[in-house]
Amino acid sequence: MSRIVYVNGAYVPENEAKVSIFDRGFLFADGVYEVTPVVNGKLVDHDAHNERLDRSLRELKMAWPCGVAELTAMHKELIKRNNLHEGIIYMQVTRGVADRMFNFPKDITSSLIAFPQVMKLVDNPNARTGVKVVTTPDIRWLRRDIKSIMLLAPVLGKEEAYQQGAAEGWMVEDGFVTEGTSSNAYIVKDNTIITRPLSNRILAGCTRRALFRLAKEHHVKIEERLFTPAEAYAADEAFLSSASQFVMPIVEIDGHRIGGGQPGPVVRKLREIFLEEAQA
Ligand code: PDD
Repeated sequence: MSRIVYVNGAYVPENEAKVSIFDRGFLFADGVYEVTPVVNGKLVDHDAHNERLDRSLRELKMAWPCGVAELTAMHKELIKRNNLHEGIIYMQVTRGVADRMFNFPKDITSSLIAFPQVMKLVDNPNARTGVKVVTTPDIRWLRRDIKSIMLLAPVLGKEEAYQQGAAEGWMVEDGFVTEGTSSNAYIVKDNTIITRPLSNRILAGCTRRALFRLAKEHHVKIEERLFTPAEAYAADEAFLSSASQFVMPIVEIDGHRIGGGQPGPVVRKLREIFLEEAQA
């Protein structure tokens, strides 16, 4: 596959794209990213992703690489040039290029790269069967509210889950589930959705935010509180949410079958109303 990708102002074939070995993203993971879904050739909820990007950049005292309108236009241009019907646009901003030093170099410009990835988001076969998850210790830093490109802990957690035949790892800290390695985590008990409240310990998912709004509109109750793996094993339903999975039913956690091993009614309904809006 040869895609057209974006590197610091230029649209180039992927095999011609180059970044400096002195880029602080490469040397220090000194950067942030966003993953925006694309359905029917259109960005889903891009404003929410731009808002979160703005927050991540501010928390790290990093400059915007361009204006918000320019960033959205760049996303649309990538969709157009790649004829992307369904998938995601990945974008990352790093502090820029400078000789290696830990403190912030003066007068450098942020680097911006982006590329598309084709994915089956709407008709994802996993959504029909549901997926398995396993729990794994949360060994990340304590600013998980920043969408940092420093992802080694999630990489290790996801790989461990895959090795055990699961699709996602649910990370556990002080006895409670924080979130998935690349998704937010939810259980359902007596028709109420239970999920961890926002803090520095999890990422504020854009899909989570949309789900909260949709659940309210459809009179589905959400309780924001911590839950343990044991409580999850005994839940009626469980699911995860992210830009690339949307709402994904979970049918097994650490070998415990959830809801008889089938996606349950609450998660099926949520996925349906989420997809309806994404496809509109
Ligand atoms: N990951 N929590 C973590 C740790 C994540 O990495 C993600 C997203 C989410 C869900 O956020 P959102 O709904 O905005 O996608 C929660 C993206 C998809 C990724 O890294 O590929």
